[in-house]
Amino acid sequence: MSPTLPEPGPRDAPPLRVFFALWPDAGARVALAALARDTAVQARGRAPPVGNLHLTLAFLGDVAAARIAALDAIGLAVAAAAPLFTLTLDRVGAFGDGRIAWAGTSAPPRDLERLVQSLTGALAKDGFPTERRAFHPHVTLARHCRRPAGSAAIAPIAWRIEQITLNASELSPRGPRYRELGAWPLGSATADGTTS
Ligand code: 2AM
Repeated sequence: MSPTLPEPGPRDAPPLRVFFALWPDAGARVALAALARDTAVQARGRAPPVGNLHLTLAFLGDVAAARIAALDAIGLAVAAAAPLFTLTLDRVGAFGDGRIAWAGTSAPPRDLERLVQSLTGALAKDGFPTERRAFHPHVTLARHCRRPAGSAAIAPIAWRIEQITLNASELSPRGPRYRELGAWPLGSATADGTTS
């Protein structure tokens, strides 16, 4: 009889490329999809698949599978302590010589900035390094733009922020695939700091 091998555990699993993000609700997704399509046509770039449209709060890069549980705990605690708020996307702009077009806001809500500060603070406390670049809230609308994308005001897209998600990015020749690892509602903390 052959010896029984132990079940592979999280310690044997490959690292995951992960990030915390906001994923649009149905209304914001429809508006962002139309904007991404129009922007990509104008800038002769490529819009992401509709299901990939999102706003990154904190990018972590490769994380050992055994450490994902610690990120779940951070996601739960940070989301619970944050209030619900509305993010209004009212402009498009570009990164990298106009090759990447994005939707952003002329007035980042204080609650969004506080959410990111609280997330990056909790991540740093648990030994997860994050970007040192300033947070620039954006939804990528088109990549590989051959006609440099410019900056312009757009019809405002009001996006109610109700939860944060932890996602794994799986790279492939056809572009990234994002897999949701966890989602936590904002504002569920009670006065004594427990989650309801
Ligand atoms: P982007 O939309 O501007 O490309 C998954 O890659 C998500 O993390 C994307 O939203 C990406 O932003 C963001 N991100 C932030 N910093 C990154 C980095 N250094 N490398 C890859 N993606 C990063």
